[in-house]
Amino acid sequence: MHIEYLSEHTSLVPQLARLHFEQWGYLRPGETLEQRVARLQAGCGRGGVPTALVALEDAKLCGSAMLLANDMETRRELTPWLAGLYVVAACRGRGYGTALVGRAESEARALGVRRLYLYTPDAAAFYVRLGWVVTQTCEYLGQEVVVMSKQL
Ligand SMILES: CC(C)(COP(=O)(O)OP(=O)(O)OC[C@H]1O[C@@H](n2cnc3c(N)ncnc32)[C@H](O)[C@@H]1OP(=O)(O)O)[C@@H](O)C(=O)NCCC(=O)NCCS
Repeated sequence: MHIEYLSEHTSLVPQLARLHFEQWGYLRPGETLEQRVARLQAGCGRGGVPTALVALEDAKLCGSAMLLANDMETRRELTPWLAGLYVVAACRGRGYGTALVGRAESEARALGVRRLYLYTPDAAAFYVRLGWVVTQTCEYLGQEVVVMSKQL
């Protein structure tokens, strides 16, 4: 497995956007798949914010992670955010998620970021194991979510 910039593999954008859409589309009920593709395309940065990373195994997409300036409309004062952490079901449990978080943290650290944020509806325990702390629990887009942060 290796982690690369999505900007070097833009042909994977539609596939990844569909996976994100299936996983998190319910959080943005008005957004179409086409809009999600466009949003991912716009987030295909590297060496800055936004940055989009993909985990690959023999050129096959295994997962993703992103750095975004804002991921939560109600917490625009917090920046930047770890977002889009996703591992394809068949690749789970093999350390890809942990590796993607670690790489995203390294990318942020290299940019001089001191604290990184994320929100999750259901995976707080995964991030706690990686040193993230819960900042608050709140309702967002009709879901109870946990806002977490990590000092880098
Ligand atoms: C969460 C996710 C990224 C983990 O990816 P992964 O490659 O399986 O992660 P790793 O192999 O590094 O770690 C696996 C460990 O995390 C645990 N884990 C996975 N999902 C978890 C969750 N939602 N909550 C708590 N722990 C979780 C597994 O039980 C496993 O524990 P073990 O090592 O004790 O067996 C992946 O399950 C996924 O993409 N899920 C759907 C999208 C999602 O929930 N994204 C993150 C939250 S927004």
